[in-house]
Amino acid sequence: MKTILVTGSTGYIGHWIASELSREYKVKGFSRRNVDTSFELIQCNLLDEIPKTKFDILIHVAAIPDIKECEEKPKLAWKVNVDGTRKLLELAKENKAEKFVNISTGSVYSPTLKPLREESLIKPTNIYSETKYQAEKLVKTYSNIFEAVTLRLFFPYGPNTHPDKLVSRLIKRVAEGKPILLNKNNRPLLNPIYIKDLIELIKLTLKSNISGYEVFNVAGGETVDIKLLSEIIGRVMDKEVIFEETGKESPNYQALMVKVKKNLGFEPVTKLKEGIRETIK
Ligand SMILES: NC(=O)c1ccc[n+]([C@@H]2O[C@H](COP(=O)([O-])OP(=O)(O)OC[C@H]3O[C@@H](n4cnc5c(N)ncnc54)[C@H](OP(=O)(O)O)[C@@H]3O)[C@@H](O)[C@H]2O)c1
Repeated sequence: MKTILVTGSTGYIGHWIASELSREYKVKGFSRRNVDTSFELIQCNLLDEIPKTKFDILIHVAAIPDIKECEEKPKLAWKVNVDGTRKLLELAKENKAEKFVNISTGSVYSPTLKPLREESLIKPTNIYSETKYQAEKLVKTYSNIFEAVTLRLFFPYGPNTHPDKLVSRLIKRVAEGKPILLNKNNRPLLNPIYIKDLIELIKLTLKSNISGYEVFNVAGGETVDIKLLSEIIGRVMDKEVIFEETGKESPNYQALMVKVKKNLGFEPVTKLKEGIRETIK
């Protein structure tokens, strides 16, 4: 049985990945916390020396993902998000790992009105997305040593999503009967991915042969604007939704999912209504 090392394994996304994969693989999780898990937990702070441990595949999820925190502590953001990635790439090299899966973000792109493809213009606009992009570039340089994959996530959501994320904020506002703010022309359009679909994609990534380095957009199957998304939330919660126009312009954050379907055979299956229902439970 292959051993998978998951960094950030007690964070939101990392915990989902490590717990779900531990049903099929031997999973080791790096974390700074000491909590009960269904997988082996190894203490690791990316700012320190990385513990030596054996594994076949590394899924790198750990990062400082908070835009504000990265702006306030740019040196820390750089050390964790970029230098931490470099240390893990070295660990994977020492381990003669077969694959390195790097969790990145759709926010590395310059958002436009058109749906984003993997070849779309990259233009990080804050320290968080800049550090994530620098980490991607590092991962690419190791792709002659092991298979290397970057997954650019677009609005992952599901049970236990962070309260500051878009879907959580909309759920909270609808629950409290507060108005949902709408920008001009029904923008932004977005296609959020349900966490369990993301796990299915990770499983396919683990089983697929990646030639050198590949980047994939990772988003959901339904594209919505904020109004429709809020209405879906309202229907699931049986709550009336109130809207307020801001008159502001906005780009779109919609990802094209052609490459991931073609190369990995992945198609998200969870309908927004279903995913929102599970998230609210
Ligand atoms: N959630 C989203 O909407 C979203 C969207 C696009 C991309 N992403 C990417 O997904 C990944 C996970 O995000 P998340 O939402 O799950 O965030 P999260 O819950 O805050 O998890 C972040 C993880 O990083 C770990 N970490 C932070 N600093 C560390 C350090 N110095 N040493 C070791 N570990 C450290 C944390 O470890 P502890 O558990 O030990 O605190 C935590 O497990 C990130 O790479 C993020 O860029 C997330």
